[in-house]
Amino acid sequence: MIPMKIKDDVFSLRAAHWDRKLFDELVPLPGGTTYNSYLVKGSDKTALIDTVYPLKTSGFIDALKKTGISKLDYIVANHAEQDHSGSIPAVLELFPDAKVVTNATCRRLICEMLPVDAGAFIEVKDGDRISLGNKTLRFLLTPWVHWPDTMVTYLEEDRIAFTCDFLGAHLATSDLFVIDEARLETAAKRYYAEIMMPYRPHSRKALQRLAGLELDCIAPGHGPVHARPAFIMDLYREWTSDTVKPEVVIAYVSMYESTAIMVEYLMDRLAEKGLSVRPFNVVEADSGDLAMALVDASTVVFGTPAVLAGPHPSIAYVAYLVNVLVPKTRFAAVIGSFGWGGQVPEAIKKMMPQLKATFFEPVMARGVGRQDTLAALDRLADDIARANFPDAKAEKAVPAPVPAIG
Ligand code: FEO
Repeated sequence: MIPMKIKDDVFSLRAAHWDRKLFDELVPLPGGTTYNSYLVKGSDKTALIDTVYPLKTSGFIDALKKTGISKLDYIVANHAEQDHSGSIPAVLELFPDAKVVTNATCRRLICEMLPVDAGAFIEVKDGDRISLGNKTLRFLLTPWVHWPDTMVTYLEEDRIAFTCDFLGAHLATSDLFVIDEARLETAAKRYYAEIMMPYRPHSRKALQRLAGLELDCIAPGHGPVHARPAFIMDLYREWTSDTVKPEVVIAYVSMYESTAIMVEYLMDRLAEKGLSVRPFNVVEADSGDLAMALVDASTVVFGTPAVLAGPHPSIAYVAYLVNVLVPKTRFAAVIGSFGWGGQVPEAIKKMMPQLKATFFEPVMARGVGRQDTLAALDRLADDIARANFPDAKAEKAVPAPVPAIG
């Protein structure tokens, strides 16, 4: 870990976690991640902005020493979650006179979670400034991008926004700045889907606040630095908007292939009607890929057999995720099969009180579907197409060839 220069007297101190596979034992990390801290040396005072994940503290402290600073005046904490605040106690051990600068909510959380004395803080409010001499830090409170405490620190003279979780990406790279925008876009979308989508209105507000700043760089708490802020801001504008795409996510599980056959049939009918379809066999699917697909999709279909009169547990897990991720999905449906009975569609709908979607008539078949099942799937495909293309002519779709099942 080495200090890397962003601008004169502004450095990145980034702890890469190349081989981390899961965040929070939940979120897959196909490209690893980084925890980013930044050092700003003013003519009078020096500030550290955020720290790193506790496991990376030792290398981080070594890198901080390599910067050659003999004193540290401020440790700005943009967010209390420990992947950013976890090394504050170690930094205070090295620089006991430094003050932790943060807002009231973040201060309370840090005091409750970490061994940091309440007297070590300077509390700031929205719009407050701290002078480092020839450099000035301004604090913008941006709650709920990720927790209620989150804020952005803006370095006025250098036009850099230090955004912590906001606009970040779980991507470990040796490049200080974003070089491969396509790769970054995928990582940033995955990150948005998993971390920010539940707080979409708050992300939109935070974005509007950043849009009012002159920006040369956006320096997030995860992933590389954006030297072209418009790139990530334009992506967030699209993701946080209310606009959906005519895409159908089908999350399904099949035990005896009956549900899988129904999914295949529905996919073909939807594709014929001009809809993009993304199937996920959720037993093996990466939950991050599924979350990403939900960022833009207008429609989600749950395909499940009945298990003990309810949905398959893997689909119940997906319904739980959809409920907490709160995608902007507008339409939903349940299809699948059952043996002796069950109330599967009702049970799935009840699991997602936060999903503000219109549910179409479900299609549930006993065992292997028959001709009436296929006719019901045709009707569902019509419903989905009509909802997605309300201005299209009400022309009858070309009748689909009916495969022999059951
Ligand atoms: Fe990267 Fe909310 O912590």
